[in-house]
Amino acid sequence: MNPLSVPLVDAELTQCLSAALPGARIESMPLPLSPEISLYLLNSDYPQHQLLPEQMLYLMENPLYWTFCWASGQVLARHLLQNPELVRGLSVLDFGCGSGVVGIAAALAGAQRVIACDIDPLALRATARNAALNGVDLNLVADFADAAGDIDLIIVADVLYDIENLPWLQRFLSRAPSVLMADSRIKDFNMHPYRRVKQCEASTLPDLDESPEFRQVSIYLAGNGLPA
Ligand SMILES: C[S@@+](CC[C@H](N)C(=O)[O-])C[C@H]1O[C@@H](n2cnc3c(N)ncnc32)[C@H](O)[C@@H]1O
Repeated sequence: MNPLSVPLVDAELTQCLSAALPGARIESMPLPLSPEISLYLLNSDYPQHQLLPEQMLYLMENPLYWTFCWASGQVLARHLLQNPELVRGLSVLDFGCGSGVVGIAAALAGAQRVIACDIDPLALRATARNAALNGVDLNLVADFADAAGDIDLIIVADVLYDIENLPWLQRFLSRAPSVLMADSRIKDFNMHPYRRVKQCEASTLPDLDESPEFRQVSIYLAGNGLPA
């Protein structure tokens, strides 16, 4: 998809957001850790603490992950922008792209091709808008199996909130020689051949006021061919 042909304001995204969170808006904001990237996210002054129980329930059934840039996504995006040699010239897949933050960082850092994958069609729409906002081109797929061609590196941030996603970490290694994964959900994550290469603190944007443990983000590397 040519990002420049995507309209920046998306009526369907706005409609889905206000169905879940009355009065909420989508607004573009720069990332605190990587101000060279801006994303369309939930308006930062939305009074999340005033949600009614039925609104919370609706949200849990229809999570709008793409309206946030998760702490792990921010950290992995920063890591790629700071270390462009990790992706330069490579074919990269961002698994669980959400807003598209990590894939956008990979594209800005010089990846030759970026595929953004998410099971949520709204996340793919949001990713297309955010790619356009940042002037990069991403290929979108809803199903990992549909990603065509060679993939040199899989990048993945904050998908282990759902423990059923754990087996993906081994599957990735039969599809690509290297994986970079950022996570703050599993304490003391330990899965061969993943090894921790970085740890730092970050918050989700807009800030969800998550407990301190979920602000401690680690980046893990598996596979060969990439500098740590
Ligand atoms: C917490 S969000 C993280 C988004 C983004 N990576 C970030 O860090 O801001 C998790 C995203 O992963 C997607 N996801 C979860 N399980 C998935 C799966 N099995 N396949 C593809 N996408 C998945 C969700 O739909 C959601 O958009």
